[in-house]
Amino acid sequence: MEIEVFATLNGIPDEAINNKTVIVIDVLRATTTITVALAAGCLEVIPVLTPEEAIEMRERLGDERVLLGGERNALKIPGFDLGNSPLEYTTEIVAGKRLIITTTNGTRAIRRAAGGRLVFLGAMINAPAVAGLAATAATDITIICAGTRDRFSLEDFLTAGLLVDQLAGQGEFVLRDGALAARDYYYCHRADPAAALKASFHGRLLADLGMEADVEFCSRVGATDVVPVYGGGIIKKAS
Ligand code: MLT
Repeated sequence: MEIEVFATLNGIPDEAINNKTVIVIDVLRATTTITVALAAGCLEVIPVLTPEEAIEMRERLGDERVLLGGERNALKIPGFDLGNSPLEYTTEIVAGKRLIITTTNGTRAIRRAAGGRLVFLGAMINAPAVAGLAATAATDITIICAGTRDRFSLEDFLTAGLLVDQLAGQGEFVLRDGALAARDYYYCHRADPAAALKASFHGRLLADLGMEADVEFCSRVGATDVVPVYGGGIIKKAS
């Protein structure tokens, strides 16, 4: 079985997704935030592409236990209940609720993975747990980095390298070049992944907006064993 890493959403062939186990990464911050929401008791998460789609879907669902979350330019969308900071998604706010979320890059990447046999959301906080589940799937594994507006992002590539390293420790995998490069990059920074996240373009942007605490939070490897799984347009906790 093989592991391949795609550093951006550009040019991912369907055959790299269909019938594969796919892990989607947007560590700053979408896949971290969705993992935290499910860990805090959110029932399910629906990723959508636009704020308009989110508002229209809530009206159609007509359920007051539905929250709108997400960001544009890293800031909360006007009229939404929550932004995209994992620190906002507390049990008091999300337990027993459904969440419709839209973000600039993360929700696009999740939707792109729709054809996968199994689709997990990966981040630093749940990397060991995601690797544990994916390693038992007995299929090739494709890791998709959300990137930033279709451009390479260091933080997602670093997290992909962490996952490749975790997976390689749990099964006989052939590493394709993207996976080898990601793992080598992770080896350069595994002593202090938080520093690498802070040095990234998006990490610096979030810090400039006063969101350093988010970057610190997103860099805590293995902080939870919650694994989000995407299927039929909905994200739930893997059982
Ligand atoms: C994204 O999806 O682009 C990111 O999660 C944005 C962010 O949270 O700043």
